[in-house]
Amino acid sequence: MNDANATRVNIGCGLSGIPGWVNIDNSPTIVISRIPLLRRWLKAPPWPRDVKRLDVRKGLPFSDGNVQYIYSSHTFEHFSYEDSLALSKECFRVLKPGGAIRIAVPDLGLIVKEYLSDPAPLASHTFLSRLSLSHSLRDILHPGSHHSQMFDSRSLIHLLGSAGFVAPEVKSYRQSVLPDIEQIELEVRRGESLYVEAKKQ
Ligand SMILES: C[S@@+](CC[C@H](N)C(=O)[O-])C[C@H]1O[C@@H](n2cnc3c(N)ncnc32)[C@H](O)[C@@H]1O
Repeated sequence: MNDANATRVNIGCGLSGIPGWVNIDNSPTIVISRIPLLRRWLKAPPWPRDVKRLDVRKGLPFSDGNVQYIYSSHTFEHFSYEDSLALSKECFRVLKPGGAIRIAVPDLGLIVKEYLSDPAPLASHTFLSRLSLSHSLRDILHPGSHHSQMFDSRSLIHLLGSAGFVAPEVKSYRQSVLPDIEQIELEVRRGESLYVEAKKQ
C-alpha cells in the first residue's frame, strides 16, 4: 500500500471529518440525522454520510499494524483516564511501525495560566466553567458536550508513553508528520489546544 492509500483514522471526528480518512464518531445524532423526519424534529446536525458510528471505548475495528495515521481532536478528554489509556493502547496496537498518532485536547495548562492572570472577581467561575466537567442529560444525545478529564502536556505525554509510544512530543498548530494536516486540524481550535504527537517505533 503506498502512502496515499495508507489507512488514516480520525477518532471523534464530529462534523469535520475529511475524505480519505476513516472518520469515526459515536454521536446518537448520526443515526437521527439519517432519518429525515427525526432529523428535522430533533434538529440533528448534518452528519456526512461517510462517518462510521462506533464507540471507540470498545476498541478499534482494525487488525494489528494496519493503520498509518491516527488523528483525534478534542475527544480524549471526553473519556475517563482508564478509557483514554485503553484507547491509546488500541491506537498503538493498530498502528504500523513508523505510523503516527496526533492528539489535540483543550490545554489545561493554558486555562490555569489564564485563570491565574485574570484579575476579574469571578475569574474562579470562568475557570471552572471552562473545565466543563459537569455531566448532564445532554451528554446522552451529544457525547461531546462535557469533559470527563483534562490534560496538560505532562499528562498527555504520560498517557501516550504508558500506551507504548516512545518520546511523545508537544507540537504546535499544524506542525506534524500527518498528511492532510492543513485540512484536518481546525483553525477554530488553535487558541485553546495542546497538540501531542508520537510515532510507533
Ligand atoms: C468536542 S467533539 C470534537 C469534534 C471534532 N473532532 C473537533 O475537534 O471539533 C468530540 C466528539 O467525540 C465524539 N465522541 C465522544 N465519545 C465518543 C466515543 N466513545 N466514541 C467515538 N466518538 C466519541 C462526540 O460525539 C463528538 O463528536
